[in-house]
Amino acid sequence: MVSVDATQPSAEVLVVDDNGGLAENVAEMFSLAGHRARAFTDPRSACDAARSAPFDLAVLDVRLPHQSGVELAAELKTLCPDAEIILMTANATVDTAIAAVRQGAFAYVQKPFDPDELISLGSRALKQVHLGRERLRLLDELARSETVYRGVVESVDSFIVSVDAAGNVQMWNRAVAEVTGFDAASALRKPFSSFLVSLPARRQLSRAIERALAGEVVANVELSLRTQSEGQRIVRWRFSRFSFAQRSEPIVLAVGADLTDRLELERRAAEAEAMASLGTLTAGLAHEIRNPLNAASLQLELLSRSADKLPDPKLKERIDVRVAIVKEELARLTNLLSDFLNLAKPKGLNLEPVDVAVLFGEVLALQEPLATGANITLVQELDEGPQWVRGDHAMLKQVLMNLVLNAIEAMAKREPGSVKLSCHGQGDQRVEIRVEDQGPGIPPEIAQKLFTPFVTSKEAGTGLGLTIVKRIIDRHGGTIFVSTGDPGGTVVRITLQRANPALRSARVV
Ligand SMILES: Nc1ncnc2c1ncn2[C@@H]1O[C@H](COP(=O)(O)OP(=O)(O)OP(=O)(O)O)[C@@H](O)[C@H]1O
Ligand SMILES: [Mg+2]
Repeated sequence: MVSVDATQPSAEVLVVDDNGGLAENVAEMFSLAGHRARAFTDPRSACDAARSAPFDLAVLDVRLPHQSGVELAAELKTLCPDAEIILMTANATVDTAIAAVRQGAFAYVQKPFDPDELISLGSRALKQVHLGRERLRLLDELARSETVYRGVVESVDSFIVSVDAAGNVQMWNRAVAEVTGFDAASALRKPFSSFLVSLPARRQLSRAIERALAGEVVANVELSLRTQSEGQRIVRWRFSRFSFAQRSEPIVLAVGADLTDRLELERRAAEAEAMASLGTLTAGLAHEIRNPLNAASLQLELLSRSADKLPDPKLKERIDVRVAIVKEELARLTNLLSDFLNLAKPKGLNLEPVDVAVLFGEVLALQEPLATGANITLVQELDEGPQWVRGDHAMLKQVLMNLVLNAIEAMAKREPGSVKLSCHGQGDQRVEIRVEDQGPGIPPEIAQKLFTPFVTSKEAGTGLGLTIVKRIIDRHGGTIFVSTGDPGGTVVRITLQRANPALRSARVV
């Protein structure tokens, strides 16, 4: 007795048998079981029906006019790949059975068959169809939700990086790629630490990954990422563990916010504030200080001349030594005063093509005595051929003087060594100038605020040197980046616009 299976939804069933009566009977059995069944004696009409509306199950006789049921099964499968086929035959052979299975038939029944058995076979085939479709639907849903999540990850401005337990990058979203200039393909499978700026940052990262893997959420970790253009971005990270359901190995998800612009704004605001008060102070005091300074210099000159007339040469010598010291101190004061004035009220830029070789020559000649006294060799390295940058010669000289002086001062207490000035082209448009030393490197506590006025680690330093340098480079539209190597040593990289000496028209900005 054929019964209706309430758990199964009604399906489309095609029955094909050259015996019209049998085809009708089988179709009726499936209709009684709650399905919509149609009977055909000709395979062509069955194919037409399948083409005009999809079907779920086809019950086919193996022996049919014009083509075999096995061939028809293959054709119907191409029309409806997720449907199932049951083949019926009066004289089964192993060969037809194998061919039927090859064409993807669900089952093979021998005539005469028990109607209940055929219907229950049909039910199982339809369950299979249902399961197959459900699987496809879930896969589709999964693909869709993956697309949505990927879209979210790619569209946010936050940095999202996932790393495996060994600290290698597995995912690198658009925001990190855009800001650092390293695309996802070049970052994948590389250690995340290789994108960080300093050794302490790398240590901090491995600690954060360890703690996150142990289940802790590690927030507010400030680690700077290096960029392809050799700059850096200051990023605040949050590390947490993430496990995929189907994967046993947990990964660490690092979500970061780029603080660089905000910190830069804050720094500029603080700097502007410092400059404003410095400006007022300088404007008020400069005049007052300059006059007595001039008067003191003049008096010193007179004193020195009077000393020349002293009959006692020993006394004259003693006075000369003291005069020289006071002169030096007055010169320092005058320099300091002009630094203040320059910062508070910068002079106009006289932009012209500047020959870097000439600039290097002047700076090295001026710094040579100091370097020699400190057992330091000054070396220079330039790309072949003339190197010209667009700049204000005097100001760029001031920049290099400051940087070389810092380098010499950093190395003064160390073993003998060298300070290198180099200049290399960076494509057609820019030129990179480097000042490298073998000193101890920038003290970590001031590394983030190097360009802020009055930041110094030296007893006699004013902390204005790098502020002035940055100011000048900014005004030239250049970039400056200071880094400390692993075993120490400082590299200052400056890029400036390349100039064409043929266009030698000075311009005041
Ligand atoms: N090449 C270097 N190696 C190590 N530390 C450096 C180097 N250059 C600068 N620094 C650090 O940066 C600080 C700030 O430098 P900056 O030139 O602005 O001021 P300063 O040298 O201290 O004083 P001054 O105003 O006389 O130049 C220095 O005090 C020093 O700690
Ligand atoms: Mg200095």
